[in-house]
Amino acid sequence: MKHWRIEDVAWDRFVAGQADPAIVPLVKAAAMVERNGIDYAIYLHNVFRDDPDFGGAVDTWALEEVQHGDTLGRWAMLADPSWDYAAAFARFRAGYHIPLDAETSVRGSRTGELIARCMVEIGTSSYYTALGEATGEPVLKEICRLIAADELRHFKLFYDHMRRWLARERIGLLRRLRIAAGRIGESEDDELAYAWHCANEPAGLPYARPRCAAAYMGRAMSFYRFHHIERSMGMVFKAVGLPPRGWLSGASARLAWRLVRHRQRRFARQTS
Ligand SMILES: [Fe+2]
Ligand SMILES: [Fe+2]
Repeated sequence: MKHWRIEDVAWDRFVAGQADPAIVPLVKAAAMVERNGIDYAIYLHNVFRDDPDFGGAVDTWALEEVQHGDTLGRWAMLADPSWDYAAAFARFRAGYHIPLDAETSVRGSRTGELIARCMVEIGTSSYYTALGEATGEPVLKEICRLIAADELRHFKLFYDHMRRWLARERIGLLRRLRIAAGRIGESEDDELAYAWHCANEPAGLPYARPRCAAAYMGRAMSFYRFHHIERSMGMVFKAVGLPPRGWLSGASARLAWRLVRHRQRRFARQTS
């Protein structure tokens, strides 16, 4: 069962003047990726076809992700009445596909698949927390709070199932670390960049990943603060099986923070 419904949001509190023009295009792009959660559910059902416990949880998870998309899409249409969420999503869906017919995880094991899902949920929970803290628009603030709480629950869901699969598959720490780092690195791949393109660029402009990734990441990263990275790093450590609050986690967070700032500046230079 979902923890909240789209009608629970106090939409009448929307204040147009407080919808930050730097945040609106990010919300549009995020709506695309969230709405596509249903495809991931099909893929996860294939990969975990002999695990009914997980299958049941995936259906609720996918409904929540779709609701995230619909809620963000609705907010973006309030902030920009000329924007068409359904049309933008149809464009995204026509051009972006995940391997729905895969029978085994693209991560090489079920544990690996679940670690990768943990990384995505860490990313989304920290992203919506950061956007929610940055915006002054009351409805978006509420939406971000609701979604970030869902993403944190999703992390726990995938983490618990991952621990169960790890006990069976016993993949080593180094492999778990490699999968986690690999999935984090994919945030600059096609999915988000293409979502940016479909949500924000005119139909006549051909898609170019470097341009769209820089446009998206340069803006998105500007909303992160050190405490978001520090918390995320603790969750990454927990997911791979390392102490979430030790010196190594702290040092990694400081390094990651420098990397985020460096990349944000680089992306911003590319788009200016
Ligand atoms: Fe989500
Ligand atoms: Fe999620």
